[in-house]
Amino acid sequence: MKTKTIFVCQTCGAQSPRWVGRCQECDSWNSYVEESVAVASSSASAVRNPIRTNESPVLLRSITADEEKRIVTSILEFDRVMGGGIVPGSVTLIGGDPGIGKSTLSMQVCCSLAQSGHRVLYVSGEESVKQTKMRADRISKKIGDSLFIVNQIDVNMIIDHINELKPTCVIVDSIQVVNLPGLTSSPGSVSQVRESASILTQVAKAQGIALFLIGHVTKEGTLAGPRVLEHIVDTVLYFEGERYSIYRILRTIKNRFGSTNEIGVFEMTSSGLSEVVNPSEMFLSERPKNASGSVVVPIMEGTRPFLVEIQGLVSRSAFGMVRHKAQGFDANRLALLVAVLENRLGLNLQDKDVFLNVVGGVKAVDPAADLPVVIAVATALLNKAVAFDTVVFGEVGLSSEVRSVSQVVARINEAERLGFKRCILPKNNLKSKDIRTKTMELVGVLTVREALDAL
Ligand code: TYD
Ligand code: MG
Repeated sequence: MKTKTIFVCQTCGAQSPRWVGRCQECDSWNSYVEESVAVASSSASAVRNPIRTNESPVLLRSITADEEKRIVTSILEFDRVMGGGIVPGSVTLIGGDPGIGKSTLSMQVCCSLAQSGHRVLYVSGEESVKQTKMRADRISKKIGDSLFIVNQIDVNMIIDHINELKPTCVIVDSIQVVNLPGLTSSPGSVSQVRESASILTQVAKAQGIALFLIGHVTKEGTLAGPRVLEHIVDTVLYFEGERYSIYRILRTIKNRFGSTNEIGVFEMTSSGLSEVVNPSEMFLSERPKNASGSVVVPIMEGTRPFLVEIQGLVSRSAFGMVRHKAQGFDANRLALLVAVLENRLGLNLQDKDVFLNVVGGVKAVDPAADLPVVIAVATALLNKAVAFDTVVFGEVGLSSEVRSVSQVVARINEAERLGFKRCILPKNNLKSKDIRTKTMELVGVLTVREALDAL
């Protein structure tokens, strides 16, 4: 077979005949790797289309589509992230750093499905069948009679197994180790990952099988990032968390069958992942009393409110160069908010390093975290503590005005449920008619200064 050498971006899959330092498509640096691809068009098209369906076009009007019956697992956090269960015929990518718990989570899903009588095929390309069994023993007492395991990396063989077993659900762990023998490039290369995924997807769609692809994302980008698959699949979930923390967050990035931005919170235990039903309580459990620079904020993740603690620390810069560092918050946004504090409120932060931490490995992307961040930094500088039973939320504009945010009611209810007594919020949000609270004092503010005074 004739081959030619091309260069492929590992981040977005763009191709180029020459090596380029910076990708024109996705702006990432140093992401191009050399790959050889087959040029013989006849064999390439044979590889591309292993299953041809001869369906002819039908009138859209004539199709009766009931809301697909979803398959539910006993893992509620997982079901919610999926949008209420697994849709038959859907393809889901579970991405995450190596060692974060992707195999563990998918094995738990398999065990749960098998227990309720579904036929499941777990394709383990990375671990032997014995290793997989040891993991399954660790996480589940009952495995059920319909969970099949195979150690296989050849896509054609995997498809044969699928055709033979006719499972409800197939897990491929991981997409980076499987390969299509028709392609010359090595497993894990962009073209292998993309072609293998697209063929498996076609099989799953044609047979109505729920397919899960597991993909590693590495910082070095030595393996093709699952990013190149995001447009092929229906749902993209990222499993994240600090490696040395026990908490893991499963996040929806894309979902054709449900809302995005849902999250599921898990805790890694000695017997697998267990669900954290009350994340707010968990995130606040170690909160220090009367510490300066600590503020609690109800942030929204999709439809779900939860409370997290934001901590600020201000210290004198050592080398005449100020640093603004943030964990779990956008560093550029932090620099902007620090500038607001300096210029609009006259706080002296010029020669100070500012550090910010969102506790529990949570990423606060919700604009409602602006005001708490500003208050965490200001109270850290002034060495004042925010009252223990107060929550704060609101977006901050460049002239230090506090702007209204969405889903106030959910935020207030969650704070009330956890026993908070006072809430500092944007004044405009008080207009909402649905706010009903008996025990909570609501303080509407227009500017950051008013918020600081109220505290
Ligand atoms: P794993 O699912 O193998 O990660 P991935 O597939 O994402 O690479 O999980 C790896 C880590 O989880 C490993 O360090 C061991 C830990 N672990 C537990 O703490 N408890 C358990 O019950 C299991 C199965 C794994
Ligand atoms: Mg694994």
